[in-house]
Amino acid sequence: MAETTNELDQYLASTTKSKALWEDAKNYLPGGDSRNSIFWAPYPIFVDHAKGAHVVDSDGTDRLDFIGTMTTLILGHSPKPVVDAVDQQIGKGMVYNAPSAHQVRLARLLCERIPSFDLVRFTNSGTEATLNTIRAARAVTGKSKIAKVEGGYHGSHDQVSVSVRTNPAKSGERTRPDAMPATEGLGEGTLDQVVVIPFNETTIAKRRLEENKDDLAAVIIEPMLGSVGMLPATSEFLSMLREFTADNGIILIFDEVISYRASSGGCQEYYGITPDMTSLGKIIGGGFSIGAFGGKKSIMDLYDPSQTGGPRVAHAGTFNANPVTMLAGAATLDELTPAVYQELAEKTDYLKSEILKVGKELEIPIQVTGIGSLFGIHFTGEELVGYRDIAAEDAAFRHKVFLGMLNEGILMASNLVGAVSTELGITEMDAFTAALRRVLERALAQAN
Ligand SMILES: Cc1ncc(COP(=O)(O)O)c(C=O)c1O
Repeated sequence: MAETTNELDQYLASTTKSKALWEDAKNYLPGGDSRNSIFWAPYPIFVDHAKGAHVVDSDGTDRLDFIGTMTTLILGHSPKPVVDAVDQQIGKGMVYNAPSAHQVRLARLLCERIPSFDLVRFTNSGTEATLNTIRAARAVTGKSKIAKVEGGYHGSHDQVSVSVRTNPAKSGERTRPDAMPATEGLGEGTLDQVVVIPFNETTIAKRRLEENKDDLAAVIIEPMLGSVGMLPATSEFLSMLREFTADNGIILIFDEVISYRASSGGCQEYYGITPDMTSLGKIIGGGFSIGAFGGKKSIMDLYDPSQTGGPRVAHAGTFNANPVTMLAGAATLDELTPAVYQELAEKTDYLKSEILKVGKELEIPIQVTGIGSLFGIHFTGEELVGYRDIAAEDAAFRHKVFLGMLNEGILMASNLVGAVSTELGITEMDAFTAALRRVLERALAQAN
């Protein structure tokens, strides 16, 4: 347990080797890494090794991993079935200039499980997957604009780098959000191509869609806002989107790169609402780089190179569907039976209820959101409807809690979202809540 009440001092004192690595890294990498989404101030820990539920940093500190590489590692680090499958393949070649049967095995597993998948294609990232769903939607509808919700994250290509983590004070009305760039360097006209709707505000969002219906190729949505806080959509909101898009010749895309943890059929099975196309990533690669997109045969056939005239939509990628990733993914899905999903959800529900108890006992307003094995902690008593409610939370306090949890031996995402793996049991759930209690007690003591 941390000796001091100052979380930052404790963090600095216990991560000196990580700091030295980070200082060196900055000589070669801007900001010392290649992934801005996992940077945290003052600098991140550098990982030395990981196994099961444990991540050990370069200073030798062992932490429980409650995020699993931004929700990817549903079986924990280096699970035996995945390691064995990959070991067997490595000696037979890493990547070929022709397809292998392993791809077919993973494709079959996904098509059997995901309600919207008649056919699927593999990529190396969720970013490429969402890019392809949008491109296919444009090809099939002959229209160009897309609609997305404020706060929705769909990867880092131009079309979706709009209105992700905006500053609400500078992004128009809550009911009529402006399309805001999520990065500098977007191509000219990118913002004009995106209609931004407020999450979970059914009537207002529908009105905005109505105004643009003749120009919209697709509506893309995470059925649960993932990286900004694990906030589930309401059934009413998703049903409106399903009905509206079907009535107006618009492709409905569910981005389930994170929410595929909800059940073996993803959030679409959980809600009983089937989109036209779906993008996947993260857990389906068993810890290796992956993305996948799929949908109705009539849409996916656009990619078929064996048809007369060739494919209508181009799709290439040197490492797409490489046998190592396909095997790791299939070995992971083999483990993920409905019973495993159920067990993960039950453990996570237990964790959520224990976190709420801590809040109640310490008289700190806490809400815990999420579906299945995913959870997000929010320190507010206000109703959480959409992105702006999450953006209104006290960022400095949240960061203090995040550093405090690191000091207590718990690794989450820096915005306090987490993911439970099969390697985390009730003992670890109790360790999490005991750690959170100590962190919050220190914060209260400091405030008084
Ligand atoms: C919902 C969602 N879509 C797409 C992506 C992009 O996936 P990748 O990081 O594999 O490019 C992410 C990544 O976190 C995501 O959360």
